[in-house]
Amino acid sequence: MKKSYFDKLAPWYYFLETISFGNQLQQCRISQLAELNEVKNVLILGDGNGRFLESLLKSNSNTEIESLDISRNMIGLANARITSLPNSSKVGFIHGDVFDWDFPKFKYDLVVTNFFLDCFTYSELTNLLQKVSLSLKPQGKLIYGDFSVPKSLFKKTLSSLLLFGMYLFFRIFARISAKTLHDPTSLLIENNFILMNEKYYLWSFLKSQLWIKN
Ligand SMILES: C[S@@+](CC[C@H](N)C(=O)[O-])C[C@H]1O[C@@H](n2cnc3c(N)ncnc32)[C@H](O)[C@@H]1O
Repeated sequence: MKKSYFDKLAPWYYFLETISFGNQLQQCRISQLAELNEVKNVLILGDGNGRFLESLLKSNSNTEIESLDISRNMIGLANARITSLPNSSKVGFIHGDVFDWDFPKFKYDLVVTNFFLDCFTYSELTNLLQKVSLSLKPQGKLIYGDFSVPKSLFKKTLSSLLLFGMYLFFRIFARISAKTLHDPTSLLIENNFILMNEKYYLWSFLKSQLWIKN
């Protein structure tokens, strides 16, 4: 399996995100926070520089969080971001490849995938979402925040061009395996997830979904 390499991009990630999309990705990441009051055990996959992690810690003071990422530099940035928060000891960082990681069974109330599943091919997603489903408790939640392709012709053309450029960039600089964006909806349904809530941003180019395991 191909590894991705976000270490070199890590110091630039916030800057690149901000000049490209302003604060819209962050709006999308945190848009389901109000639904997460009850969660105790959380797994954040491909957490990156920790912007969602910081917001979750600020809103849920007693939540235990595991944050997994393949990039040491991203983990360093996430750690620096949260270190002054009173509940930062609630976070355990895991440096590893999600495909090599042994997911614990029925442990989590919430798994978070923000701008993470877009890095993978459809067969990698098939494998990964089975493991994610098994790692959740019954009625556990999944956040899927990512890019999406709007329906209207004009927006669809524009977003397809943007995605083409972004995939070219991330394939060259982060060596991601995906060549295009895959919608995980059918895989989530196959793995017994039910869609509970959905929000769109930036002309529907960004989408945040809250799924619940049946
Ligand atoms: C596009 S970034 C998104 C980061 C963050 N979730 C966000 O919302 O900005 C993808 C993140 O996933 C991590 N990643 C990519 N492939 C991975 C893998 N196979 N295992 C674990 N982490 C991975 C990268 O290091 C990077 O931090």
